[in-house]
Amino acid sequence: MNFTDIQFDNKGRLRHFLTIEDIPRDTLIQILDTAESFISFGQREIRKAPLLRGKTVVNLFFEPSTRTRTTFEIAAKRLSADVINLDAKRMSTIKGETLLDTVSTIEAMKTDMFVVRDAASGSAFLIAQHVSPEVRIINAGDGRHAHPTQAMLDMFTIRQYKKEFADLSVAIVGDILHSRVARSQIHALKILGVKDIRVVGPKTLIPTAIEKLGASSYHRLETGIENVDVVMMLRLQLERMEGQLIPSEQEYFHLYGLTEEKLKLAKDDVIVMHPGPMNRGLEIASSVADGEHSVILAQVTNGIAIRMSVMATIMGGSR
Ligand code: CP
Repeated sequence: MNFTDIQFDNKGRLRHFLTIEDIPRDTLIQILDTAESFISFGQREIRKAPLLRGKTVVNLFFEPSTRTRTTFEIAAKRLSADVINLDAKRMSTIKGETLLDTVSTIEAMKTDMFVVRDAASGSAFLIAQHVSPEVRIINAGDGRHAHPTQAMLDMFTIRQYKKEFADLSVAIVGDILHSRVARSQIHALKILGVKDIRVVGPKTLIPTAIEKLGASSYHRLETGIENVDVVMMLRLQLERMEGQLIPSEQEYFHLYGLTEEKLKLAKDDVIVMHPGPMNRGLEIASSVADGEHSVILAQVTNGIAIRMSVMATIMGGSR
């Protein structure tokens, strides 16, 4: 069974949110538009909508997370759901229970949605195949494969600052090889019509088949970010690296670290993004992370509205 078969129901409605690549443009736009309507929630005195009242959402995170787990919890609560956060260190998977047995056990408690983060690529897909048809699964990051809500909050943030996707030049910089975020970003940018998608980094950190996804490779930061509208920095994922893929951290920052001086090569109104967590002084200088072009904290804030939108969409069964 492929992603499309599992992600959509037999009427073509989105019922899980596992990966961006087979979601039609209209559905992505609808998710962005719905998120727009949720933005004002953050400013209201009573920040609640009844869309998930009576539903139970379980955050099942087997990898660390600050932004994703917290914004999913806030988003679910703003939609009036009951939220359970499971601590992987205290779960029975430690005693040998399989992931699917853990999911079946929690599903037997009458849960409606699982938000899943796992180190293994394909975990959310596996769970989606396993649960009953009325249960919904959201992929909150699986191995190197996908992080679709991160990509959607990034698209939302780009649209806030830049409006028209078709005219943009976007550079994704850094450790593309280990990045589920980069894969989801490239799919989303392509579906939304961005023609100039660049990936920038050392040859050792760029997958050989990246052009097949619709991105062009650059190995010098200075040429990769020249005249771009958006720079999306990525964390150097040292914990996923096998062998010596960068000469040294100092050398990496010298060649690929985003500094104020290098950023001058991009357009004057460039925005700088980072999904976090950031390694200051390794992939990005603090003066850029906190500088006038940075929209990094806006990304975090927008994560709540996007996750509300995705949860409401899959619960409502949108086409
Ligand atoms: N961007 C992101 O996934 O951050 P967390 O690991 O903190 O959730």
